[in-house]
Amino acid sequence: MTHKILIPQGALTPALQARLEAKFDACFLPNQPAERDAWLAVHGKGIIAMATNAKFGASPSLVAALPDLKVISSLGVGLDAFDLPALKARGIQVGYTPEVLNDCVADIAFALLMAVTRKITEADTFVRSGSWPSASFPMGTRVSGKRLGILGMGRIGSVIARRATGFDMEVRYHNRRAVPGSALAYAESPVALAEWADFLVVASAGGADSKNLVSAAVLDALGPQGFLINVSRGSVVDEPVLIRYLQQGLIAGAGLDVFAQEPQVPADMVALKNVVLLPHIASHTVETREAMANRVVDNVEAFFQNRPLPSAA
Ligand code: 8YV
Repeated sequence: MTHKILIPQGALTPALQARLEAKFDACFLPNQPAERDAWLAVHGKGIIAMATNAKFGASPSLVAALPDLKVISSLGVGLDAFDLPALKARGIQVGYTPEVLNDCVADIAFALLMAVTRKITEADTFVRSGSWPSASFPMGTRVSGKRLGILGMGRIGSVIARRATGFDMEVRYHNRRAVPGSALAYAESPVALAEWADFLVVASAGGADSKNLVSAAVLDALGPQGFLINVSRGSVVDEPVLIRYLQQGLIAGAGLDVFAQEPQVPADMVALKNVVLLPHIASHTVETREAMANRVVDNVEAFFQNRPLPSAA
């Protein structure tokens, strides 16, 4: 219990927090930014480890206030809330939780695709509101056999592609670089991919490199019959432009698990009928969250036992 680990209040589940508390000397970063500086001035020194999540990350100012920090263990696969080169330069190792969430994120991509094209949430409301006996429900769009474009062919993208074979879909992808040995057809640009696809699924990493990758030009290419699905980061899509395209019917619809300013979702987005909106739950299943929590603990333990982190960024 001699190893001091910092946990931002509310960043981890109570169960994971309890596991870390049982193994390490845990302390908790105050929730209120106003209290943080004073707390860090007193407690920052001597903290060796930090357990956080992919959304909270570790801001440069927080890292600067932790002069003895040597390892960060993050719950999540996204690394966009970490300045990896700066952390590396300071000799701070970063662990995260790739692979274990691939299936659940891919499942949610398909759940969103089915929900928005087949109008599942609208249909549910239609039945519950008692409209069925007196009105007809509008037709949806067929999914099976259509063209699926995947933007970002990493671990999650490749599982989405695998799911698509069960729907008899043709799949193409765009990635920063073509994936060596991939049997899937490569599109040279996001616009080329969107032009070809019926459905465009965003599965790329977030961060500066992919900011607003899904631009007006990409949505123009997707066109009025096309649907956009995003299970990556809100920052990858130009959100105000997306809202305008949805309002004007310039694309057919969108299924979104992620937003630019979570947990805020613009009122103009909420008002739309041709969207299905989820509160960033792609990896949020009992099984996957447990596997992710195990990785968080494993990474911290490995560090303190002088072993390489099982999942190092
Ligand atoms: C989590 C995620 O919701 O893995 C990621 O990068 O975005 C999600 O699995 C996030 O880690 C917040 O806990």
